[in-house]
Amino acid sequence: MRNAKKTIAIVVGTRPEAIKLAPVIRELSESASLVPFTVSTSQHGDMVAQIFDNFGIVPDIDMHVMRPRQKLWDLTAVLSRELGELFGSRPVAAVLVQGDTTSALVGGLAAFYHQIPVGHVEAGLRSHRRYSPFPEELNRTLLGRLADWNFAPTEYAADKLRRENVDGDSIYVCGNTVVDALKWMVSRLRGRELPAGLGDGRKRLVLVTCHRRENLGLPMRSVALAVKHLAESHPDTHFLFPVHPNPGVRELVMPVLSNQRGVTLCEPLNYEEFLSVLQQSHFVLSDSGGVQEEATALGKPVLVLRRETERPEGVMAGTLRLVGTDVQDIMGGAHELLVNDEAHRAMSNGSSVYGDGRASKRIRAVLEEKLVGLGSTLPFPGNPPAPLLRE
Ligand code: UD1
Ligand code: UDP
Repeated sequence: MRNAKKTIAIVVGTRPEAIKLAPVIRELSESASLVPFTVSTSQHGDMVAQIFDNFGIVPDIDMHVMRPRQKLWDLTAVLSRELGELFGSRPVAAVLVQGDTTSALVGGLAAFYHQIPVGHVEAGLRSHRRYSPFPEELNRTLLGRLADWNFAPTEYAADKLRRENVDGDSIYVCGNTVVDALKWMVSRLRGRELPAGLGDGRKRLVLVTCHRRENLGLPMRSVALAVKHLAESHPDTHFLFPVHPNPGVRELVMPVLSNQRGVTLCEPLNYEEFLSVLQQSHFVLSDSGGVQEEATALGKPVLVLRRETERPEGVMAGTLRLVGTDVQDIMGGAHELLVNDEAHRAMSNGSSVYGDGRASKRIRAVLEEKLVGLGSTLPFPGNPPAPLLRE
């Protein structure tokens, strides 16, 4: 009798998890011995559906946990119950979680309660600041303890785990799956025009995103003000800002920028549209984690709207520059990229430091080796440990 395939439950909560786990889900669906079971918590509702649609993925189960202005503790409580009950109700050989969201942390914890092995995709990112990003820094640190298999995107991240005495045998340097997602999507974009209404073909384009919890309040208002002043002082430039649906973000950004000439605020773009805009932009202003990685892979300069980053590889590569959220600092950094071609060129080289597009294959190989004893033969070409930015 043939052995049944082993089920890998993949927990997806937010937009970046959907993007970074989509290639893993696709890869596992081709395995002869494993089968993916996609659990959408819908911590983010429409944004996750939008991304799954891009990748042709239909979740096996959807928990619909998103509520307006949901508190972290309420989200944690409802996810804990839903995921705990789910993992108790069906045979699951392993659970995969990604990154540092509440869905990821609770997914890992619920699996642990059932003594199901946990794989953590994108393990080892650290800012070493407890409240920045909040609550992500603690979420991912706890996952470093919870996980049986830590899939680190870079040697630098693996080194962070080793310094925390995470068992070296649990660490696999795979590259970041965002590069797999990016390559898959970019290969389908060739020759596409910018989606209608999103740009002004005669002007240079600057892409803006901002959503981090620790930037809510004055920092995010400063970002909006800086964009406003930049649009006024650079009428040859168009600023496109897809606004995160968090009402806390919208209340800060929309009053400042809704009627600003040279600025377009829009709903979140699907992945195809977003990458198309990213490719055509002159540079990016963003506090997003995933955007820092994608822009590094594509060679698009990013002024990072944070004081620190857990993604220093892109800073070392020269694509990312930390400007924080002070109005003058943002304006100074942006002005330089708009008027100084040499400064812009120096940040536009791009780098494969985040991966070669085969991270999902390596993750599949490790899971097949661990769960069904198949050999794993996909070494990561790797990169040397980057020097530490802080500590
Ligand atoms: C979450 C993750 C963060 C990740 C980000 C990606 C946590 C704690 N945070 O942050 O790590 O970088 O997603 O975007 O897991 N909301 C909507 N519609 C949506 C999505 C959210 O209205 O489509 C509302 C929620 O109801 C909530 C607020 O926005 O009131 C914040 O959402 P939440 O998922 O808690 O955190 P994010 O800031 O989106
Ligand atoms: N993204 C998208 N549409 C948008 C904005 C972002 O598809 O309108 C993608 C982007 O390409 C990246 C991811 O969303 O892969 C980043 O998500 P976000 O900034 O919400 O989260 P973070 O990466 O900071 O956790």
